[in-house]
Amino acid sequence: MGTDMNRRSYRVRRVVRFFIRYFPDSWFIKYGKYFAHSYANMAERGIADFYQKVAEEIAAEIEHGNILDVGTGPGYLPIEIVKKSENIRAIGLDISEKVIMIAQRNVREAGLSDRIDLIIGDGNSLGLKEDSFEMVVSTGVLFLHSNPIKMMSEFYRVLKHGREAWTYDFHRDLKPEEVKLLNNRAHGTGVSWLWRLLTKSAIKLAYTVDEFSEMAVKTAFKGYEIERKRIGILPLMRVRLKKH
Ligand SMILES: C[S@@+](CC[C@H](N)C(=O)[O-])C[C@H]1O[C@@H](n2cnc3c(N)ncnc32)[C@H](O)[C@@H]1O
Repeated sequence: MGTDMNRRSYRVRRVVRFFIRYFPDSWFIKYGKYFAHSYANMAERGIADFYQKVAEEIAAEIEHGNILDVGTGPGYLPIEIVKKSENIRAIGLDISEKVIMIAQRNVREAGLSDRIDLIIGDGNSLGLKEDSFEMVVSTGVLFLHSNPIKMMSEFYRVLKHGREAWTYDFHRDLKPEEVKLLNNRAHGTGVSWLWRLLTKSAIKLAYTVDEFSEMAVKTAFKGYEIERKRIGILPLMRVRLKKH
């Protein structure tokens, strides 16, 4: 039993190392389409509470207007956000066409197609007008990139003056008990191999809070706050970037 577990975790480590070594920046972006459905199932079963809690935090800040979710994945976050207030509309943007098709289905099934638009696009070069959003959000995306400053600069450009971009990402300062909590959720997701692969690679790829601070000061944002917080079982950092 113990030997089986060791063999399995050795295999997971090898797969993670392979991807990180050969596709250091964009392996998820290029190859994510192959497990988009599995990711959507995993997120629905494993971290539905995460989307609800993030949506609550956002709804406490923004009561009306347009919100942009960059790297929306299966669209669960915009769905939860617009459910919180009738006066909010959302755009979910993702680089993967396959992922956007899944998000469209989810939004349709939630009966929210009139308030959520889904578009294919790159967060590093948003084809959207400047000064157009009350808020930009992004969950689990920046840590995948070797130059998040570029994407944060786009967030700055499309945000209205005086508004904020909020990002929620893994960080690399995890305590052993936080890692254990993450691992324990694997079985509840129905796709434990993917959960392990993603959480392990996330922990390896993620920035430390200090590394992220160094990048945040290099953006045009007037100020920023980084808070380490656990949302459900996810140990994350929430970064609030404030535009002039
Ligand atoms: C780990 S998933 C997170 C999805 C979703 N935000 C969530 O919390 O469930 C990362 C998502 O970011 C998307 N993504 C990665 N890089 C991107 C980029 N440069 N522009 C837009 N989307 C991107 C991927 O296609 C994927 O759907």
